[in-house]
Amino acid sequence: MTGISGKVAFVTGGGSGVGLGQAKALVKAGAKVAIADIMQDRLDEAAADFEAAGTPVMPIKLDLTDPHAFAQAADRVVHELGPVQLLFSTAGVSQFGPLQLATMEDWRWQIDVNLYGLINAVQTFLPRMLEGGDECHITATASMSAFIALGGCGIYTATKMAQRGLMECLDQDLADTKVNCSLLCPGAVNSNIHQSMRARPSHLANTGFYTGTEQDEARLKSVIEHGMDPERLAGYTLEAIEKNQFYILPYPEFRVPLVELQERVLDSLARPEDDPEYEMRISKGVPGGSSEQPA
Ligand SMILES: NC(=O)c1ccc[n+]([C@@H]2O[C@H](COP(=O)([O-])OP(=O)(O)OC[C@H]3O[C@@H](n4cnc5c(N)ncnc54)[C@H](O)[C@@H]3O)[C@@H](O)[C@H]2O)c1
Repeated sequence: MTGISGKVAFVTGGGSGVGLGQAKALVKAGAKVAIADIMQDRLDEAAADFEAAGTPVMPIKLDLTDPHAFAQAADRVVHELGPVQLLFSTAGVSQFGPLQLATMEDWRWQIDVNLYGLINAVQTFLPRMLEGGDECHITATASMSAFIALGGCGIYTATKMAQRGLMECLDQDLADTKVNCSLLCPGAVNSNIHQSMRARPSHLANTGFYTGTEQDEARLKSVIEHGMDPERLAGYTLEAIEKNQFYILPYPEFRVPLVELQERVLDSLARPEDDPEYEMRISKGVPGGSSEQPA
C-alpha cells in the first residue's frame, strides 16, 4: 500500500483495544476512518475523543456476525467517506477453559465473532475492492494463537488458526490483483478483551467456562495488563502494510516457541527413503509438495 494518507479505512472492533489503536494511528496518518463495534457506549466514547481531538471518525454500530448488517454498514461508509481501500478485521472475543467443559454456545459465539466476523468482512468488501480497481489492503487481526496452541485456549485457538488459513489462501488467490493482505498476530495487548463476555448475545449465554464475573474479568486482565499498548501495535501494523508485508509479528519473544514448533513438525515428517511411493508421487507431479530435500 503506497501511503495511508487520504485512504478510507473500515475498522471492526474500532471501539476498543487493538481496533481503537488502529483507528488512532490511521487518523494520525491522514486516513478517513470508520469504526464499527457492537458496543454503543464504546463507540460513543471513542467518537467523542476523536471529535475533541479535532479528527472526527465515523462510528457505526454493527454486529459483525450479521452479513446483511455488514453490507449495510459498508454502503453507509461508501456513501459518507467514499470507497474503502483499507479493511481492518479486528474485532474478536476470547474465553478460556478446558475443551471438556465447553458448551456448544461457547463454540458458536467465538466462531461467529472471530471467524464469521472475518468471513463477513471479506465477503462484503473484497468484491467492492476488486470492482473499484484501487490499490487496497485487507488486514486480519489474528493472534500468536494462530501458530501456537496453548492448552485451555482451544476454541479461541481454533478460530485464530482458521483465520490464518483463510488469510494465507486469500493472499495467494489475490496475487495478481491490486488487493494485498496482512495477518497481524499479536501476543498480549493491553486491551479490554477481558470484558469480552459483555458483548455475548443472550441466546449464546450458556457457558461451561465462566460467567463474566468481576473476578473472572480481573483474572483475565492480569494476563494482558502488561501487554503492548494498542497504538504502538498499530504503528508496527501500518509500517508493515505500507511495505505490503503479509505476516505482521511484532513480538520477538515468540521466536523460541516458533522454532520449537517447526522442529517438532519436521521431526514427525516421514523421510523419502521410508516411503516406497514417494518417487512415484513426485514423478506424477502429485500436488502439495516438493522433491527438493534439505542437505
Ligand atoms: N488483547 C490481547 O492480548 C490480544 C492478543 C492477541 C490477539 N488479540 C486480538 O485482537 C483483536 C481485538 O481484541 P482486543 O484485545 O482489542 O479486545 P477488545 O475487547 O478491547 O476489543 C474488541 C472489540 O470487539 C467488539 N466486538 C465483540 N463482538 C463484536 C461483534 N459481534 N460485532 C462487532 N464488534 C464486536 C467489542 O465490543 C470490542 O470493542 C481480537 O481479534 C483478538 O483476538 C488480542
